[in-house]
Amino acid sequence: MSTPEHILILDFGSQVTQLIARRIRECGVYAEIVPPTISTASVLGASPRGIILSGGPASVYDPDAPYPSFTIEELAVHGIPVLGICYGLQLIAHQRGGRVAPAQRREYGRAELSIVAADPLFDGVPSPTVVWMSHGDAIAELPPDYETIASTDNAPYAAIRHRSLPIRGVQFHPEVHHTEFGGRILENFARRICNCTGQWTPQHFIASKIEDIRRQVGDRGVICALSGGVDSTVTAVLIHRAIGEQLHCIHVDTGLMRLHESETIARLFREHFDIPITVVDASRTFLDRLRGVTDPEQKRKIIGHTFIEVFEREAQRFPDVAFLAQGTLYPDVIESQSVKGPSATIKSHHNVGGLPEVMQLELVEPFRELFKDEVRAVGRALGVPDWFIERHPFPGPGLAIRIIGEVTPQRLDILRHADAIYIEELQRSGLYSAIWQAFAVLVPVQTVGVMGDSRTYEHVCVLRAVTSTDGMTADWFPMPHDVLGRIANRITSEVRGINRVCYDITSKPPATIEWE
Ligand code: XMP
Repeated sequence: MSTPEHILILDFGSQVTQLIARRIRECGVYAEIVPPTISTASVLGASPRGIILSGGPASVYDPDAPYPSFTIEELAVHGIPVLGICYGLQLIAHQRGGRVAPAQRREYGRAELSIVAADPLFDGVPSPTVVWMSHGDAIAELPPDYETIASTDNAPYAAIRHRSLPIRGVQFHPEVHHTEFGGRILENFARRICNCTGQWTPQHFIASKIEDIRRQVGDRGVICALSGGVDSTVTAVLIHRAIGEQLHCIHVDTGLMRLHESETIARLFREHFDIPITVVDASRTFLDRLRGVTDPEQKRKIIGHTFIEVFEREAQRFPDVAFLAQGTLYPDVIESQSVKGPSATIKSHHNVGGLPEVMQLELVEPFRELFKDEVRAVGRALGVPDWFIERHPFPGPGLAIRIIGEVTPQRLDILRHADAIYIEELQRSGLYSAIWQAFAVLVPVQTVGVMGDSRTYEHVCVLRAVTSTDGMTADWFPMPHDVLGRIANRITSEVRGINRVCYDITSKPPATIEWE
């Protein structure tokens, strides 16, 4: 890792490890997550300002419990401050001769923390303060040379420190937002205890990722599938900064895109960034294969396979290619690590899934640790225009999963037109950026209407708008009635084929964001 000032997070498998990194980054300090098996030499070689040991599902007594390859005090004697969180705390206690045992009462949720000794970790934190607990084991006996700095009713050793070395541990989770002063506690660790100056910005991230990409790729080629979305676009722009013409961008026009989508992405790359892009019009192939298909999963599979086929064929023009660039974000990583197994698949997401295996390419995924808003910040710093950065996510299978029933060129035209009016009105009313995702859905139901003096018998269009932070859960957006009225009016009068407009007021769960 080439960032001069950073904190390393050893990941012991907690679901929320990335939140630790995010909170640290929020206070202007770069944080990188590494596996717990990292060697002492690598840690010391990276010269982090501090180390955080994350939580994790294991008990320190499990036969296959993850352990670091060094003792915590080894690091501390080199002057690197350490903070253990939950499992990380138990590991410190266990390594140094304390006793960890199943807690008298397993603790999940809210607890009140009382600070019992002044410590820079708690600067500016009131006592008592609400913290979030989630643990089965707890420290039953402190190791020699350690003392308590905070406790809760159920956890007398809720926060501890070494008497002379810079080692601390907390039983609760400062990274989750339910811990009222959690951000402050992590900031105190980074800024006051590790003495980080807090100068980290997206520009630093870009500089260090450029080095990483150059190191990974060498003089070989990278191919990138540009979907038209923010993540793949920012990925491509960053990689182009790193390796220039070794990057080959391909945009496959599936015929399932929004109005003028393919032209917009081509123009952005060619004119705004001066990055070459190959646009492949494969709409005929996609539409031919979707003819007569109504089942959502079958649609997704056909689109996924066709995409791979087209992309693979186009990629053969670039024989130097050894890598595939993907705009994978942290929530994608978490979702794909589902412990529920394939039987829990709700929808197959496969806009570029399967490509690396089929094409035997290695992946370049510079944003695996980032959340969407962080990618947007990086995109802005790379000069991606605001109107593009703020675009809503768009699924790989495109409008095909927003046309319920068969996808035909005529239905695509109708939906595209209605969708464009909807988005235009949201932008005009200033609501677009308050919404995570908004789109129109075409329902294969015809209803009776009247226009002028004539009876009509046309499609129903449903408008959906949701708020969300990562797409994993979502709430319906309380759209002002006058805006809804204006949109419905325009759609029914301007789009031939739609005579009725409805608004979807379902959250996720129980619904999903897309209709198929
Ligand atoms: P759902 O409908 O599962 O969607 O609530 C959650 C988020 O994922 C997007 N989505 C997809 N994105 N390929 C994608 O790239 C897909 O196959 C796909 N299906 C859903 C959806 O738009 C929302 O942002």
